[in-house]
Amino acid sequence: MNTADLKQEITSLIEGANDMASLEEVRVTALGKKGKITGMMKNLGQMDPEQRKTAGQELNILKTEIASLIESQAKMLKKQALDERLATEKLDMTLTPRPEMQGKVHPISQTMEELVTIFGEMGFSLQEGPDIEDDYHNFSALNFPVGHPAREMHDTFYLPDDPSETGEAAKKVLRTHTSSVQIRSMANAKPPVKMICMGRTYRSDYDITHTPMFHQCEGLMIDKETHMGHLKGCLMDFVRRFFEIDDLPTQFRPSFFPFTEPSAEMDIGCSRKDGGLKIGAGDSWLEVLGCGMVHPNVIKNFGLDPDEYQGFAFGMGIERLAMLKYGIPDLRTFFEGDTRWLDHYGFDAMARPNRAY
Ligand code: PHE
Repeated sequence: MNTADLKQEITSLIEGANDMASLEEVRVTALGKKGKITGMMKNLGQMDPEQRKTAGQELNILKTEIASLIESQAKMLKKQALDERLATEKLDMTLTPRPEMQGKVHPISQTMEELVTIFGEMGFSLQEGPDIEDDYHNFSALNFPVGHPAREMHDTFYLPDDPSETGEAAKKVLRTHTSSVQIRSMANAKPPVKMICMGRTYRSDYDITHTPMFHQCEGLMIDKETHMGHLKGCLMDFVRRFFEIDDLPTQFRPSFFPFTEPSAEMDIGCSRKDGGLKIGAGDSWLEVLGCGMVHPNVIKNFGLDPDEYQGFAFGMGIERLAMLKYGIPDLRTFFEGDTRWLDHYGFDAMARPNRAY
């Protein structure tokens, strides 16, 4: 057999090999110890030197050609096998998204936002004061003289005296109401003043409607001709906006606070049916806040002349407002830090308090 025929034969065997095992068989048939080319090489010895030279060269070339053909066929087969695997063994790399943890805005924060929005639109500025107060700002300046029974009603948390201060300033308490901010805000303010203050307040009490820490919102307006009509109008507008009920009935009942005279408590209309409570026109009333005309003694403590200046003040519990507006039955749950509670009663971070104007 001549080398051209042999090349032809082996080449077609190589091309016909469609997997690595049959290609290996072809390799053994051609180049193995007992293979065809090897066999022909063995025959070279019987040839005369001239013939041997040319035949030897041809066989060497053939050997190299066949080896490289086998190599490229092997490459092709490997690629084919890989392509097949890639086509069949599909791996789904997409992962079902895990439910993302979503934070919620606490009803207290939400309600504070609403209060700032409503009073802000009425022109009240927002003030702050310290949680740790002294006896003067929490009581005396607000017309609670030492020994006054109204002090007892506050279930005050008293702190150890502050040795760096003297007198009333040394007597520290956790503020029992945000009214303590009134004197601080008035110290460097020039009337007319319209301010609100919000924050934590503390009283030693704990049941379904009392927690040792709770939040209040205080309001104060001081000017030369401020009267009870302004107080009523402002608060009526406020509750109607806050509860989003345009014809929400209100009533003012006489009350007592040492720092206001006259003092009142404000109620909003509601109805109670089948154990449920509905805010709005109805046959019943709910107390929502305390208020009054600032007592002349307090105006004096502001550093103003009570014959020239007067004003009104109001204070309300933020939790109470939130409980009524959002139907939250137990005050204590506000502070238990239960994420299921927050998930239920909380607000979307992107939700904004509605704006009427
Ligand atoms: N500080 C009062 C309280 O805590 C509320 C109040 C504030 C009443 C301002 C009248 C005026 O009960």
